[in-house]
Amino acid sequence: MTRLDSVIERLQAQRACLDWAASRIAAVDGPVLEIGLGNGRSYDHLRARLPGRRILAFDRALAAHPDCVPPGDCLVLGDFRDTLPALAARGVAPAALAHSDIGSGEAKETAERAAWLAAHLPALLRPGGIVLSDQSLDSPELAALAPPPGVARARYHLYRRR
Ligand SMILES: C[S@@+](CC[C@H](N)C(=O)[O-])C[C@H]1O[C@@H](n2cnc3c(N)ncnc32)[C@H](O)[C@@H]1O
Repeated sequence: MTRLDSVIERLQAQRACLDWAASRIAAVDGPVLEIGLGNGRSYDHLRARLPGRRILAFDRALAAHPDCVPPGDCLVLGDFRDTLPALAARGVAPAALAHSDIGSGEAKETAERAAWLAAHLPALLRPGGIVLSDQSLDSPELAALAPPPGVARARYHLYRRR
């Protein structure tokens, strides 16, 4: 598999998981947490699949395509290890879905961020809420789910908040 094949496979897996999760939470109350806004591609996909849903987008700094910048009250800038724990104090309801897309070329830093999310993300979700992640998240509060058809298990990670 070439690196081009690999990135295409990863993005196809991401899209399939986002589509699956959007249909799964269609009738479930609660905001969506988009952790790792980046260029805004997955945010753009989620808002197209979930019209009217409040999507809170997190990143260190704004670097999204101008067409994919969330409204000001839904854009949360700063290190997510600071901004996510502050959500409850802002009166944000438990989330129906969290999508974490935080990987970078730095394996050690990415693993540290994933470990932090595994420890802290479940508390921000409603019971039964869905987590999609580019990284494996190891938490007793998250039950791993099988990926949708056509997605290799290692390509994207799906969980249900217990
Ligand atoms: C792979 S990119 C996200 C791509 C995006 N989902 C898209 O589809 O365009 C990962 C993003 O995670 C952000 N990120 C990584 N660690 C972070 C942290 N501790 N706090 C806030 N943002 C972080 C990076 O700044 C980067 O923009």
